[in-house]
Amino acid sequence: MSVNKEVKRITTHVLQAMKARHEKISMLTAYDFSMARILDDAGIDVLLVGDSASNVMAGHETTLPITLDQMIYHASSVVRAVNRSLVVVDLPFGSYQGNSKHALDSTIRIMKESGAHAVKLEGGVEIKESIVRILSAGVPVMGHLGLTPQSIYKFGTYTVRAREEEEAEKLIADAQLLQELGCFAIVLEKIPAHLAKQVSENLVIPTIGIGAGPDVDGQVLVTHDLLGITKDFQPRFLRRYLELFEEIKVAVESYIKDVRTGDFPNEKEQY
Ligand code: KIV
Repeated sequence: MSVNKEVKRITTHVLQAMKARHEKISMLTAYDFSMARILDDAGIDVLLVGDSASNVMAGHETTLPITLDQMIYHASSVVRAVNRSLVVVDLPFGSYQGNSKHALDSTIRIMKESGAHAVKLEGGVEIKESIVRILSAGVPVMGHLGLTPQSIYKFGTYTVRAREEEEAEKLIADAQLLQELGCFAIVLEKIPAHLAKQVSENLVIPTIGIGAGPDVDGQVLVTHDLLGITKDFQPRFLRRYLELFEEIKVAVESYIKDVRTGDFPNEKEQY
């Protein structure tokens, strides 16, 4: 798709300037061309090709099964739709944790094959070498702390993280480290609002919260949750703007009825 020259593209620098101006950043997930088109057209700042595609698009229970090839497929579909938004892609489980060379190879595949603008990795000091290596190749990195779903089997539940002092202190230190390493932003997932506020005030890079209260520099939700397509998922932090599961179902029931009765297609709907 050709780039619309009149649109000012969002870059990592724009996001940092937004934080400095106390302007909130909006971020949503996108996994396919059609949805990304709508979200970009609506003016969303950041599109996250999240590994939540593993749950939302593929129906897995966790984010662990999604592969690098599948993330690249989703990311390239999103990139083709976008005029303005910054496209960030999750490095999937197993593509960066153990070995920084592997992390860089995975990142280079994402950047070359999808045309995305940045990657996101879950974790703090444990993945320091991978972050350094990716950044040294000139690829912007978004961090992700708090509830990190790729570690679900270590945590055991999807409950709020860092309520205890020890974990909160580690999170504060990790956030500082990610900033020092050169990450351009950090997602804070499902942590107490007061902790997210403290972390955000102590950083110059933006924090993007999900279940982290209002005092962060931006908010992210899974688009399918916000639209009410994933109807059984109702965490406290989620605000649903539509009930699309029901609305789509009603529309499809009408279509089935029209097909069965012969009402569709009518005279105007044929050649
Ligand atoms: O994969 C994802 O959708 C995410 C967001 C929940 C931040 O990481």
